[in-house]
Amino acid sequence: MSDYFKKKFWKHINRRSLNNWYKRNFSSPSPEFVKHQVIKKYNLQKSLWIETGTYYGDTTKILSDIAEKVISIELDKRLYDLAIKKFENSKKVNVINGESQNLLEDILKNESYKNLCLFLDAHTCLDHITNKLISKNETLETPIIIELNIIENYIKKFNNVNILIDDIRLFDGKTKNYPHINEIVDWARKNNSSWFIEHDIFIINYKAN
Ligand SMILES: C[S@@+](CC[C@H](N)C(=O)[O-])C[C@H]1O[C@@H](n2cnc3c(N)ncnc32)[C@H](O)[C@@H]1O
Repeated sequence: MSDYFKKKFWKHINRRSLNNWYKRNFSSPSPEFVKHQVIKKYNLQKSLWIETGTYYGDTTKILSDIAEKVISIELDKRLYDLAIKKFENSKKVNVINGESQNLLEDILKNESYKNLCLFLDAHTCLDHITNKLISKNETLETPIIIELNIIENYIKKFNNVNILIDDIRLFDGKTKNYPHINEIVDWARKNNSSWFIEHDIFIINYKAN
């Protein structure tokens, strides 16, 4: 397909999200296709990608195009079953059912990749298809701090680590049980990592000395 038609096609498939974003005066959250560009930008060569919170596997699919291997963790059994079906022919994608805070440590302990990317997106959310709230633990809206503590224990195993934390607009100290963004900044500083924000995604970049 020529670039001209690729562009036309791209505009056509994303027209609804673009219109909605325009109506929201380009405020956060950015549409999914924009977030996916950020994810692609922070991919590391020959890396393992870990996603927490598979949901309907849209980002998992993007990761499967750029990663050497993808491990995606989903708490909800129905969504897990759908993802297993969706990726049944993919040799790269491994979907696991359970809580990311219980599974992450074993993954980090056992994987031997030198470059690691994480998309941390596990949190309570409203399923837009069933209209039901997906939550196991009502007091823990997001396991992000537990996930970061686990990553901290294993970070030195890797040469390069990019951690992408989605929905950073919610880390305002007022939204349910979300930690304040300062806690995330402190974590990055403590782990000698640089950090920045693009399109509602907090990005932490760690490089071994
Ligand atoms: C916002 S959605 C994830 C969206 C997905 N990453 C994407 O980009 O398309 C959040 C998902 O996290 C899942 N979830 C919530 N708490 C979790 C936990 N502790 N461990 C794993 N998954 C969890 C929910 O069931 C839901 O599917």
